Amino acid sequence: MKVTVVGAGAVGASCAEYIAIKNFASEVVLLDIKEGFAEGKAMDLMQTASLNGFDTKITGITNDYSATAGSDVAVITSGIPRKPGMTREELIGINAGIVKTVSSNLIKYSPNVILIVVSNPMDTMTYLVHKTTGLAKNKIIGMGGALDSARFKYRLAEALESPISDVDGMVIGGHSDTGMVPLTGHATRNSIKVSEFLSEERLTQVAEDTKVGGATLTKLLGTSAWYAPGAAVSSMVQAIACDQKKMFPCSAYLEGEYDLSDLCIGVPVILGKDGIEKIVNIPLSDADKAKMQESAVGVKKTNDLLEL
Ligand code: LAC
Repeated sequence: MKVTVVGAGAVGASCAEYIAIKNFASEVVLLDIKEGFAEGKAMDLMQTASLNGFDTKITGITNDYSATAGSDVAVITSGIPRKPGMTREELIGINAGIVKTVSSNLIKYSPNVILIVVSNPMDTMTYLVHKTTGLAKNKIIGMGGALDSARFKYRLAEALESPISDVDGMVIGGHSDTGMVPLTGHATRNSIKVSEFLSEERLTQVAEDTKVGGATLTKLLGTSAWYAPGAAVSSMVQAIACDQKKMFPCSAYLEGEYDLSDLCIGVPVILGKDGIEKIVNIPLSDADKAKMQESAVGVKKTNDLLEL
């Protein structure tokens, strides 16, 4: 299993690190446009191999896509991150050009690659890859819901005063401060609905804290977060590499599912060796259905800014 991670910034490097630590991939290629940067990150990470006990070979390369040839999975993290006060949507102008170039370079050297898009505004960048590359729709996956769901579980455990491992829950919809739909009605603690333990007001607070999860961190850090995004991507890569058939909410191209079409937005999918192997239709409450439709309107508005 060869994995390429484009962008050796904080998210890309964290992603490469988690993939290596989980020890399921033979090779990770880290690529960046900044001269020597990916090489340096790769060397630093390789010097953790004996300490962290992994055999994954990480190599760094400056902008030479021939080094990525034959990749099974590639992760696109390149582009500029958010600064405090910025929305993900404001990044579209710069990031669209970058994502278009990166995805076509990746496919040139790895025609069978499965692409995971992380760059923001992520749902729109995933849609852009769908519209411009001709890659099959199961091979284009946006990372947002896996991260947002991890943040949801963190907030739920905080409210429940429970360990995070007691909690389960999912966030669907667009990966934006207003577009996320945390499924509070489906969330559980040890299979018991969290509404048994938390008031409606507290659950609303959990949902609101989840939706601004990325913005809260951007304000604290001065740039966007990397540990949880990196870990979320690495779990998705592992599900594909190890054919786990694991369910994650991911940004997928919809053709009628959830009464939506011609956009990429977060829905539960099964990830396995073929990428998105299935879009899972779960029953939604009328309120969640309405939120999902509203979220789609927001994503489509951002998609309209693309020059396709
Ligand atoms: C975040 C970025 C990765 O939510 O979108 O932290």
